[in-house]
Amino acid sequence: MQVLVIGSGYVGLVAAAGFADAGHQVIGVDVDSTKIEMLNKGKSPIYEPGLEELLTKHLTAGSIKFTTDVRDGIAVADAAFICVGTPQSEDGSADLQYVLACAGEIGAAMTELRPESIRPLIVIDKSTVPVGTATKVSAAIRSKTDRAFEVVSNPEFLREGTAIEDFLYPDRVVIGCNTDFAESVMQTLYNPHLQAAKQKNPNSGRWFRMDPQSAELTKYAANAMLAIRISFINEMANLCEAVGADIDCVKNGIGADHRIGPYFLNPGPGFGGSCFPKDLQALLKTGRENGLPLMSLNATVEANRHQKQALYRKVCHHYKIRPSDPYPLSQKRMAVWGLAFKAHTDDIRESTALELIKNLLCMGAEVAVHDYEAMPNIECIFKNSIQYAKTPIEACQNADAVLICTEWPQYSKMDLDKVASAMKSRTMFDGRNLFNPYDMKAKGWTYHSIGRRSDYYS
Ligand SMILES: NC(=O)c1ccc[n+]([C@@H]2O[C@H](COP(=O)([O-])OP(=O)(O)OC[C@H]3O[C@@H](n4cnc5c(N)ncnc54)[C@H](O)[C@@H]3O)[C@@H](O)[C@H]2O)c1
Repeated sequence: MQVLVIGSGYVGLVAAAGFADAGHQVIGVDVDSTKIEMLNKGKSPIYEPGLEELLTKHLTAGSIKFTTDVRDGIAVADAAFICVGTPQSEDGSADLQYVLACAGEIGAAMTELRPESIRPLIVIDKSTVPVGTATKVSAAIRSKTDRAFEVVSNPEFLREGTAIEDFLYPDRVVIGCNTDFAESVMQTLYNPHLQAAKQKNPNSGRWFRMDPQSAELTKYAANAMLAIRISFINEMANLCEAVGADIDCVKNGIGADHRIGPYFLNPGPGFGGSCFPKDLQALLKTGRENGLPLMSLNATVEANRHQKQALYRKVCHHYKIRPSDPYPLSQKRMAVWGLAFKAHTDDIRESTALELIKNLLCMGAEVAVHDYEAMPNIECIFKNSIQYAKTPIEACQNADAVLICTEWPQYSKMDLDKVASAMKSRTMFDGRNLFNPYDMKAKGWTYHSIGRRSDYYS
């Protein structure tokens, strides 16, 4: 099939590479000409494991190309995916300006270039959008063209860091559409991936056709459910600390219940990223608009706001800082390991490290940071106010403490004696529970983690 993918960010690029890999002919579009230039040279503007290799493979094979002009290919396209950003507006709702602009561009290009005789263009909302957006996208296209088209909702569930694997072997594909024709186009597009997923795991590669409203809501409901689990386990971890219990014991004890399951129950320093925070706000807004205050979601947002200060609170407690102390860390040098909102990505949107670094700077600390992929992004924000280390150990030179915000696996394999020999003091605030508290204590570290006892891990 001939596929247009509009928006070449985390979702659009993975979708473009993924559909090319399924044997389709793909044109990727973006308004950012610098990105398009990089892409046509085989360079990915974002870090996602395996993405650059897949793009290069299909650029070389001629099955994918990139352009800034949505009109390229619209005359022959079977499907046009909208994969542009839906950032949070001031009132919490999803800002649809980029999605609707795309829809207008598709409509205008159809009138100009698409023969009337050709079969309807399937326009697919892959961006995360509130219930009712398919109707708005339809109206925006219809305002520019009288050619035939149908809008389909196809929310994306990929996770940054494992996005290629998630796309090539989906556990499920959700399609919101009104006609069998639209469903058949979508099935042709996804069939190779669905079959590949089923081969790996017979319970995977499931196909769900529903109405567009339900598909739109499914995406928000999935993110909300996951966010609720994270905030729940974080609150249990905080309670463990207060009552002398251990969160790993509690997690194993509840995760073995098949109604609960072990997934997404890792305590941490609060969730961030480009999706959960804004999607929760958008869903809350949908609730308010419909007279339904989504109380569990409100509580989740509040709990996460609190959790994002967890490492800061531990630092204040450790150094016995009172709120009235001016620049209480002015004599301290703090190393921060991990800046991305999670491992295996360079995405720092809403990451916990951002907030923590700001707090440390406000308290007068000297801050040195390290991340395996997110350094250029963090440098755009903090410029000369912090130091950028090439290695985790370099960040720890003369540091009074090291704080871990991202669960890069390399950190958990560090030689901690080497790390300690670079530091002034063996003090660690581990927001990701990467180390064994018992071993840390035995090695002379003052080790703070989330919700664990140091006497359980011998
Ligand atoms: N990032 C994720 O993990 C993820 C996962 C699932 C769903 N989503 C959703 O997918 C959507 C895209 O997310 P993302 O992280 O890929 O965003 P992104 O910011 O990485 O990429 C969006 C791209 O769209 C481009 N763009 C904007 N307007 C355009 C236009 N008119 N024509 C062509 N290109 C245009 C931008 O230049 C940018 O490159 C969002 O709605 C997001 O919520 C994201």
